[in-house]
Amino acid sequence: MMGVSIKYKSVVTGFVLLILFASYPSQAHKDVTSEIYRYQQQEVINRQSAAHEVKPIISHPPTARVPIDRNKLIEISHRADKIQHRRYMTDSHLELRFYQFRSCIDCHPRQANNLHRVRSKITCRQCHGEEPIAGTRHYYSSMHPIRRFAVVCAKCHKGANASFAAYVVHEPNPALKTTQKNFPLLFYVFWAMAAIATGTFAIFLPHTILWGIREFWPNKKIIKNETCTKRKQIKRFTASQRVFHLVLMLSFVTQAGTGLSRMYAGTDWGYFLIFLFGGYTRALFIHKIVGIFMLAALAFHLVYILKKVNLKNLPNSLYGPDSLLPRIEDASQAVRHAAWIVGLGKCPKFDRWTYWEKFDYWAVFWGINILGITGLILYSPVFSSRFIPGWTINVFLWIHRIEAVLAMGHVFIIHFFIGHLRRHHFPMDLTMFEGSIDIQKLQHERSSWVDRLEANGMLPGLIVKRTSVFWRRFYYLFGSIVLVLCLYLLINGILNAEELIRIFK
Ligand code: HEC
Ligand code: HEC
Ligand code: HEC
Repeated sequence: MMGVSIKYKSVVTGFVLLILFASYPSQAHKDVTSEIYRYQQQEVINRQSAAHEVKPIISHPPTARVPIDRNKLIEISHRADKIQHRRYMTDSHLELRFYQFRSCIDCHPRQANNLHRVRSKITCRQCHGEEPIAGTRHYYSSMHPIRRFAVVCAKCHKGANASFAAYVVHEPNPALKTTQKNFPLLFYVFWAMAAIATGTFAIFLPHTILWGIREFWPNKKIIKNETCTKRKQIKRFTASQRVFHLVLMLSFVTQAGTGLSRMYAGTDWGYFLIFLFGGYTRALFIHKIVGIFMLAALAFHLVYILKKVNLKNLPNSLYGPDSLLPRIEDASQAVRHAAWIVGLGKCPKFDRWTYWEKFDYWAVFWGINILGITGLILYSPVFSSRFIPGWTINVFLWIHRIEAVLAMGHVFIIHFFIGHLRRHHFPMDLTMFEGSIDIQKLQHERSSWVDRLEANGMLPGLIVKRTSVFWRRFYYLFGSIVLVLCLYLLINGILNAEELIRIFK
């Protein structure tokens, strides 16, 4: 009996032990052999994977596929070779020689030019993590697109979603031919914007320079006028127009300064500008607030225009010479003016608004719209990526940049030159500040308007007293300071452009 019971007990114990051990696979074995498993453990410890784990969808398993015709050679799936690619490895630097002795930037100079590093000094490891640095497509990598937004981007960008993470951190150079294949929208948008900017400058720069030279040709009429003693001031701009111009001018200069500080961050001059604005975050904050303010001013301006339009006499009230809408005469005047500049024919007589003033107005109008819309999108990339894919942020940033460069170039070179630096306006034309202009000067450039005012008897009503000497001095000083500030931005922007391009090449 005893023998049977011992035998029975040992059989049961043996069986239980067998079940106990057999039900668990060898932990040690799995841990040692599988790097993926270790990665998984790391993620569990970080509590990163649980909520975001998704099984891979593999339509073509990376294994050998046996064709139906067994006499043929075995065909390997096109995905199989990717297994060897460093992109798909747990340790993308496995067995790379001297890896430990070199810095990331040494081996990946192109990736070092990302805005995160240049602007905010964010290191590679803050995104790519500790060793081993996994390939971006390694299934368990924190950089894998399925969890990148939660594990990496959300560390710093609260509320980041998958669409946001589609933002291309290592943006390719948009001008290059290779980008046409990798990121076609960026390539085409960049070149379209560049073409618009180049086209504008290609027309207006030679126009402005030749015009400046033309004004030095002797002109008897003006010399006679300058000796004339009888002077009258004619009202040209209303108080609200002057206030609009002042608001636009101040906000534009602020946006140019803060925007350039952001754009040139990474160059010495950019750091200096950032320092002037009290730091990068503050510069960005000012840029955003003033941007919103400008959009509000634009809305205000639209209401102002709508109130100005005479609704009863609709097509005519919009189309007259007092309107800023372009007319057919403007084209013909532009051509005749260009002919006069090169010494062919007489200078056309301009009315209240010349063609270049209309161009300025509409250029600013569309400029504010484009900068405003792209600016609003860039205001909070996390929020806007809820509605648009994250990679469009890269595209909108380039539209914003090139449009801003075009606007600054146009205002700081062409608008300033025509307004203030031409021979008869040098060094400062105060009309926009004072609101009134000397009738002799008006006769010189806008004789059609003067004739029209005289013909319909409106001229006497527009005669005003000249602004006091104190205010004229004040305007002069104020205008000169702003002019010098803008020229400072322009010259340094051009001088440092090479350094900027070198950083982002
Ligand atoms: C010794 C040179 C060297 C150093 C140093 C180096 N890398 Fe690499 N890295 C490489 C090479 C070579 C590859 C493989 C390139 C490929 O597959 O395109 C690579 C691949 C990668 C990949 C995967 C590429 C992909 O497409 O997913 C990442 C991410 C990466 N490196 C990040 C880093 C980071 C971050 C550092 C700094 C901690 C660093 N590397 C340091 C040479 C280096
Ligand atoms: C803000 C986060 C972030 C920072 C900082 C960052 N990377 Fe990346 N990196 C990414 C993302 C996201 C990808 C994946 C791109 C993709 O999906 O193709 C990537 C991809 C890469 C690649 C693969 C090739 C490519 O261009 O897509 C390399 C190499 C790389 N990074 C190296 C670096 C190095 C070197 C640094 C430091 C100078 C760095 N990264 C800093 C987010 C970052
Ligand atoms: C270590 C913190 C950190 C991480 C991680 C990080 N970012 Fe950023 N990111 C920043 C900072 C700081 C800025 C700069 C603030 C600014 O310029 O708006 C920034 C700016 C941005 C911008 C705005 C760029 C612009 O020009 O307006 C985008 C888009 C962005 N990050 C995307 C990402 C994505 C996508 C990831 C994940 C792959 C990521 N970031 C990961 C800190 C981080």
